[in-house]
Amino acid sequence: MCVTTLFHRSGSVIAFALGTTLAISTIGCGGASTPPAEASPPVAAGISPQKFSDAVHAVMMADRTVYAKHVVTRLKKQNAPVKPSEYWQDEDHTIPLPAQMFRLGAELVSDNPAAGFTYALKSQWPLNPQNQAEGTEIEGLKFIAENPTENFYKEELIGGSKYFTAVYADKAVAAACWECHNEHASKRADYPTFKEGDVMGGVVIRIPLD
Ligand code: HEC
Repeated sequence: MCVTTLFHRSGSVIAFALGTTLAISTIGCGGASTPPAEASPPVAAGISPQKFSDAVHAVMMADRTVYAKHVVTRLKKQNAPVKPSEYWQDEDHTIPLPAQMFRLGAELVSDNPAAGFTYALKSQWPLNPQNQAEGTEIEGLKFIAENPTENFYKEELIGGSKYFTAVYADKAVAAACWECHNEHASKRADYPTFKEGDVMGGVVIRIPLD
């Protein structure tokens, strides 16, 4: 049941699943942010947690790119009377920043007991303290910063339950990234000066294994 809902979220994940097998291992159903509260027992072997994680990450990044390219940049090019703003909830004629869009989606998935996994965009130096990386997440962020072409995968125990945790680099791909972050009023005293290609943070995906 959980798996079906998951696959209906995205055409590409459906295609991926059909290409292999519709059964998927170790994806439980949980509701809480990190970790999901009520993990269901694993179903028959199918997609590995790593493949599942890579697949949903691909969908997340595709959505993120489409929002940045075809919504945010397009509005700017047209000098539209609507612009992205961190304070979109309080200001008229504004829409959320891409990172806020991403977090709002992650919060809905976290609240959805059928989703069976959680994700977040995190950093060692977050502008928003809600995005603070901890423990294994910091280990993962350090690994991807030192190994820029790789992802980080690890099994970990949280509260006595086993999880598969993946961390994917979020890099400074456009001047807007480091210009906004390096000058931001919310940056902490230890904030680095980001430049092109730097790992600014990472997408953390966590899947219950029990
Ligand atoms: C206009 C300013 C602005 C731009 C441009 C921008 N960001 Fe951010 N970014 C923010 C804000 C504000 C947050 C906190 C959002 C939230 O409330 O979760 C954030 C959050 C993040 C986070 C999560 C950690 C944190 O700092 O809270 C990462 C990683 C990140 N941005 C990377 C990027 C990358 C990579 C780009 C370019 C592709 C980018 N940002 C462009 C303002 C910006």
